[in-house]
Amino acid sequence: MPDSLVQQQFGANAERYVTSKVHAQGHSLKRMVELADPQPGWLALDVAPGGGHSALAIARHVQCVVALDITLAMLQAARDNTRRRGQDNLVWVQADGGMLPAPEGEFDLVTCRIALHHFPDQAAAIRDWTRVLKPRGALLLVDNIGPDDAEAVAFINRFETIRDPSHGWIYPLAGLEAFVRDAGLVIEHRERLLKPMKFYPWMERMQVSMEDQAMLARMLWNSKGTARKFLNPQGEGPETTFSLQEGIIRARKP
Ligand SMILES: C[S@@+](CC[C@H](N)C(=O)[O-])C[C@H]1O[C@@H](n2cnc3c(N)ncnc32)[C@H](O)[C@@H]1O
Repeated sequence: MPDSLVQQQFGANAERYVTSKVHAQGHSLKRMVELADPQPGWLALDVAPGGGHSALAIARHVQCVVALDITLAMLQAARDNTRRRGQDNLVWVQADGGMLPAPEGEFDLVTCRIALHHFPDQAAAIRDWTRVLKPRGALLLVDNIGPDDAEAVAFINRFETIRDPSHGWIYPLAGLEAFVRDAGLVIEHRERLLKPMKFYPWMERMQVSMEDQAMLARMLWNSKGTARKFLNPQGEGPETTFSLQEGIIRARKP
């Protein structure tokens, strides 16, 4: 089967996700671990570990992490990254995180950080994660979110898709919450985090062409109303910054 857009985009840029500061040090990583409160005897599943940062952060606290990603090059880069850091309680699986090759009730914890927006059917993926959780098991979901206004969220999604054609769709936090609730989980905590971004490194991570970089710069600086307030562009030239937002949800299987 030919590689999907996700596999092409991430396969070509795997190492950039290992070294990305947003992924390796972003505030949501620490927050995800705090809220998950992982325990030494746990078996955890990290869906879409990318450069390995989410899987590594959880692996430091639990017995074993199954790290499952659809992109082989990403898994190899993540495995090397975690081995360099001396962590060896991870099992690496190449699979679609929306159709898990795992039995029901297997995991104490499922995590997924900054990846769900690539999944074609986000609601179905969360239902599958719920299936593999043990009763009382926890889901820790972190993903980019958009503004509540429908027009503004559509603008942010167009902006993201020009930068990364494998971008699917980001929702307002309430949209993510609805997916989690509809999957049968009980939401125990949710919060928003502001994510300050450096504009050029953000584009370079996905090797955006010069032409598309110029288009994104025009979109950023010409944005209006809610979208402008959300993106909040600042600075000039290589120093340009803007903002994205992440939502974090901790939910439990009854
Ligand atoms: C931005 S990275 C994830 C970052 C990582 N979780 C972290 O905290 O640093 C996005 C990852 O999602 C993976 N991905 C996208 N769609 C997927 C799917 N359907 N199943 C499994 N992995 C998927 C990509 O291959 C990529 O490795």
